[in-house]
Amino acid sequence: MAQHILVLHGPNLNLLGTREPGVYGRQTLADINTRLQQVAQEHGASCTFFQSNHEGQLVDRIQAAAQDSTDFIIINAAAYTHTSVALADALSAVDISFIEVHLSNVYKREAFRHQSFLAAKAQGVVAGLGGFGYEAALRFALTN
Ligand code: DQA
Repeated sequence: MAQHILVLHGPNLNLLGTREPGVYGRQTLADINTRLQQVAQEHGASCTFFQSNHEGQLVDRIQAAAQDSTDFIIINAAAYTHTSVALADALSAVDISFIEVHLSNVYKREAFRHQSFLAAKAQGVVAGLGGFGYEAALRFALTN
């Protein structure tokens, strides 16, 4: 059961709330993070959050997770999901269990969103449940 969960948000997720609300909903990133921290605390655990629009910064943060007490990662790599060998390699390098999350159901969108460089290494993938998808991933991490 995870105690220290790192929640990573990739590019453009800082714009949640106003970004294509028909696709991504009206919740802001702060709304999502607040809810996750609340759920984590109810389980005596804690979340650390990091959002970046830059691939290298996300790689650096994943690498840093090997040196802090992170025992689970929840990642919405956003567009980098579909392009980034570097993020996939970083996740393999640190060898920390992770769940890939997408707010939208990427499988009913454009074909380029059907490919993920991360999914094959993930413990699981959650897509299409909006902000609740993060919470579902967190509840798994907290109880398994
Ligand atoms: C996303 C889906 C990606 O295809 C897209 O590039 C995003 C967000 C999602 O949460 O639904 O930025 O990861």
